[in-house]
Amino acid sequence: MHEAALHVGLIGLGTVGSQVADRLLNRREVLRRRAGVDLVLDRVLVRDPTRPRAVAVPREMLTTDPADLLEDPCLDVIVEVAGGEEPARSYLERAIRAGKHVVTANKVVMARHGPELLELAGAMNVDVYFEAAVGGGIPLISTFKVDLLANDIQRIMAVINGTTNYVLGRMADAGLSLEEAVAEAQTAGYAEADPTEDVGGYDAVSKLAIMASIGFGARIHPDQIYREGIEGVEPVDFRYARELGYEVKLLAYAARAGERVEARVHPVLVPHGHPLAVVEGAHNAVYVEGDLVGEVLLQGLGAGGRPTASSVVGDLLDLARSVHRQVQHRAAAQFDAQVQVVPMDEVGTRAYFRCRVADRPGVLAAICQVFGEEGVSIASAIQKESDDVSAEFVVTTHRSPDAALRRTRARIARLDVVHSVRAFLRVL
Ligand code: NAP
Ligand code: HSE
Repeated sequence: MHEAALHVGLIGLGTVGSQVADRLLNRREVLRRRAGVDLVLDRVLVRDPTRPRAVAVPREMLTTDPADLLEDPCLDVIVEVAGGEEPARSYLERAIRAGKHVVTANKVVMARHGPELLELAGAMNVDVYFEAAVGGGIPLISTFKVDLLANDIQRIMAVINGTTNYVLGRMADAGLSLEEAVAEAQTAGYAEADPTEDVGGYDAVSKLAIMASIGFGARIHPDQIYREGIEGVEPVDFRYARELGYEVKLLAYAARAGERVEARVHPVLVPHGHPLAVVEGAHNAVYVEGDLVGEVLLQGLGAGGRPTASSVVGDLLDLARSVHRQVQHRAAAQFDAQVQVVPMDEVGTRAYFRCRVADRPGVLAAICQVFGEEGVSIASAIQKESDDVSAEFVVTTHRSPDAALRRTRARIARLDVVHSVRAFLRVL
């Protein structure tokens, strides 16, 4: 490091990058006092230097050539807030190989390539910080890496995607359809123009992969995580859920299961009274159980330029302090690559079924027979009249292997007396 200064190259000057640049440029003296060294923003990589920006950055600081950052020996740290898998991953690897520390908000890169980058960083004696990759401004990664490190983490349950939580909330409270609620989330600036990553659960999978890997010290790749998005949820499901005492949330769930780990993302009915049931709007919440600490709930704004910049600049300050005190680097995280993820078929869950059925004698008996034959025990049942020829039948079950629940769903859908199984959701 250079004399009492940490020289920073920034990749990306969008929603997050402009807030990071703003803090570095306009609070420089305060940050210097906190870190003990001067944080100097030297270079910013963008695609289009002519684009208007939310922050005033001197034009000569902007470049479109990645080599101006990655090959500049004067830069100590590269902050990556561009997003996407490539070229971001390659840029981070090049930075580390060049002996630079990196700070990133990139969940896709950290979920898919984090262990390799951390290992490389260990070999190069530099640090990789990624607090902002999960939960925006909520201090999660540092909590797992430092404050909860003495624990054997038993379980992580999270509402970790703000867009879907906002959408589900609007469907529940205003009766909007999924499409209407997504359009509203886009107008409010929560959802991307292409909301597939959020609505399909992919964003939550990336975040769960990072948290589970750090929390369990295991290599959990996103492709190993079972995933369902919120596409199948309809406004009527919120009414039934509330009647039964639940809210509908997109849940990211990981738990120790002997020598293996359960890891899955799907919509779920969360009982009223559970802390995750009351997470509202675009907020995120992560509920952790550790063997020493017991239950911990971390909650806050999981997205947005300012909360995310809070994590990015916090990482920079932590890095600057540790480099300044010559206590850098943190031990590279250890990931056991042998830990297996429990296949979803074997996972024990409860389920909610909503079926459109013929309204005539013997229908419920036929449906219940399937549940019985699959060894699935019914916990509650509701039938509502809807018209002369059809009715809606809603069932919740006791805990069963997920494979049995899905077989039940498929068999019921094939019954002559069942028009369709309109919803199939897990119950927490
Ligand atoms: P954004 O608004 O789209 O900004 C991306 C920036 O990166 C833009 O300035 C863009 O340049 C630049 N960029 C993209 N690809 C580039 C490339 N190949 N070379 C050079 N520059 C490139 O994105 P964002 O919302 O700030 O998100 C940034 C990162 O933070 C992502 O990894 C995201 O997942 C993460 N994150 C975001 C939030 C949030 O609330 N936004 C929350 C948590 C984490 P131009 O401006 O010239 O096009
Ligand atoms: N799209 C994410 C969300 C924010 O809605 O939570 C960035 O991680």
